[in-house]
Amino acid sequence: METLENTEELLKVFEAKIDAEIKIEPRDWMPGDYRKHLIRQISQHAHSEVIGMQPEGNWISRAPSLRSKKILLAKIQDEGGHGLYLYSAAETLGVSRDEYIQWLHAGKAKYASVFNYPALNWADIGAIGWLVDGAAITNQVSLQRTSYGPYSRAMIRICKEESFHQRQGYEIMWKMMEGTKDQQRMAQDAINRWWWPALMMFGPHDSDSPRTSNAMKWKIKRETNDRLREKFINKTIPQAELIGLKVPDPNIKVIGKDQMGENIYEHSDINWDEFWSVVNGNGPCNEQRLNHHIRAHEEGAWVRECAQAYNAKTNQ
Ligand code: 3HC
Repeated sequence: METLENTEELLKVFEAKIDAEIKIEPRDWMPGDYRKHLIRQISQHAHSEVIGMQPEGNWISRAPSLRSKKILLAKIQDEGGHGLYLYSAAETLGVSRDEYIQWLHAGKAKYASVFNYPALNWADIGAIGWLVDGAAITNQVSLQRTSYGPYSRAMIRICKEESFHQRQGYEIMWKMMEGTKDQQRMAQDAINRWWWPALMMFGPHDSDSPRTSNAMKWKIKRETNDRLREKFINKTIPQAELIGLKVPDPNIKVIGKDQMGENIYEHSDINWDEFWSVVNGNGPCNEQRLNHHIRAHEEGAWVRECAQAYNAKTNQ
């Protein structure tokens, strides 16, 4: 039975571990709010990985070559695996996968708003890999140092695959920019539509982020939303310029150099009305993405039942 005295003792031990960079493991005592924060963030991260398979999945049958089809298939399969790593990490917090999925289907859990935009043509597959996975990598490399052990280990595994995702997207954009005028126009149109939703992946400004102070206090996040967004912008603008793409922001300008000698850019602010509108369910594809997930989950029930029956039999 936990008493007030020993709760204070337990909190001191927890905080000492956080300070000493010792990972918090599932069987360790942790404050209820720390557990709740992780349940929310890790499950939403897992939902994002799985829902993120939809915009790209629509293009497997329309990939322009066997090589690009194989690459896209491998990437999408990776994303499904990332979702499974993250649901497994989330389950160590005492909530079942079924419950997480129910919360998602009931609209009680979020996933990255970027996936509520449509992938209109093959250039979008390039922009998604290059920009969306590029933003995800920036965030996830930092999350490898998160204080919760299972989440950190999942991030380390996932980051190993993410750089291939970003690379294959950039290669698609590069090839299109070396192609016909129409292909160049398609590539520019894709960055025009995906640049801002990719920046939104880092969340609201630190000053408007209700979760960031606890996340930083408990070392769940190791860098803030704005810091990570700036890192992504500073890294990605030179990549766009290298292949002749123009970032859709008239206010981009170099305002200095970082300690590595890389450019630091000033840029316009995000359209936060659009951000919250899409986060709150009013994006172009919110309904379609959720209905697809619900339908796939229902149609796949028999696979889960067979796997569970087999598991029960072999573990008798
Ligand atoms: N889309 C949807 N919701 C968002 C969002 C976005 N881009 N950015 C923020 N939100 C939500 C948050 O979930 C939070 O709502 P909640 O309290 O109901 O959960 C609210 O807006 C306030 O935002 P905060 O910044 O205060 O919340 P967080 O501290 O949780 O920061 C986050 C948001 C940066 C997304 C953080 O949760 C995080 O780093 N999550 C892990 C990374 C992740 O989930 N990435 C999603 C993409 S995964 C992916 O891209 C797969 C790749 O392979 C393509």
